[in-house]
Amino acid sequence: MQNADVIWINGEFVAWEDAKVHVLSHALHYGTAVFEGIRAYDTERGTAIFRHQDHLNRLEQSSRLYYMDLPHTKEELREVVHELIGRNGFKSCYIRPLVFRGSGPMGLNPLENRVEAMIAVWEWGAYLGEEGKQKGVRAKVSSWRRISPASLIPHAKASGQYLNSVLAKIESMKAGYEEAILLDDLGHVCEGTGENVFVIKDGVIYTPPQSASILDGINRKSVITIARDLGYELVERDIARAELPLADEVFLTGTAAELTPLREIDDLEIGPPGPVTREIQQVFDDALHGRASQYAEWLDIVPVPSKA
Ligand SMILES: Cc1ncc(COP(=O)(O)O)c(C=O)c1O
Repeated sequence: MQNADVIWINGEFVAWEDAKVHVLSHALHYGTAVFEGIRAYDTERGTAIFRHQDHLNRLEQSSRLYYMDLPHTKEELREVVHELIGRNGFKSCYIRPLVFRGSGPMGLNPLENRVEAMIAVWEWGAYLGEEGKQKGVRAKVSSWRRISPASLIPHAKASGQYLNSVLAKIESMKAGYEEAILLDDLGHVCEGTGENVFVIKDGVIYTPPQSASILDGINRKSVITIARDLGYELVERDIARAELPLADEVFLTGTAAELTPLREIDDLEIGPPGPVTREIQQVFDDALHGRASQYAEWLDIVPVPSKA
């Protein structure tokens, strides 16, 4: 997947092959890291990072929940991302900041281990495939339940927590599906392995609430705003498993997957992407690509370096 020349790590821009950490990094052993997934799009106003500040805010929140202070300010990180995109010469890309406990004492107390930070960018197409975005994907309800707030922090985007998504993803792929849907401890629909979920029935849109064990997705928030602006009734409430196959339409949102419809769940047909999904997907795509002036404030335009 190497298509970037430069990576930023602990304050320095280094060549891809030189971006290394010590094998005794705490995060490698115990998962003590937090991260973000962000996308930048090629727009008429230049390369634009979608909801950059919101992602940096969430990075800081995830970090705080795991007792780590960000080693750089959010403004510094924002500027690093700008420079990194410029140095790699990308017009559009995926952006991955990671804040992690580095080397230091081994053992479960991480508090003496240095907090390190890196940011990488790379060109990345639609996570669930371009065809998936157009025609919808097939998913299976996972036998793995989404991590519970009783033992971890669903609101944090922390590396160790992703073992949960990894197991669900492997299970669904091995069974021949493209994605998994995880239920929470109580059996309610929670989310995909890296996406939030929306269910449409009789013209009303439903999505699990903040208080379910979801990650508070930034694209989820955007789609809620768009749907309401379009005049749809959008209700945040618990969703039963059977509501997925009985829905008129279902779609997933996430930075990697953008807005991807679900056309089948557990071998039961939901159907091809329907009119509500299509309408929201179009406006969302316009917002991402800078074609929706009402959502222009969601875009952080990467400054073009002046030729001195
Ligand atoms: C577990 C999980 N849920 C939901 C999402 C969607 O979040 P966002 O829209 O902020 O990318 C992601 C992706 O970051 C995720 O990893």
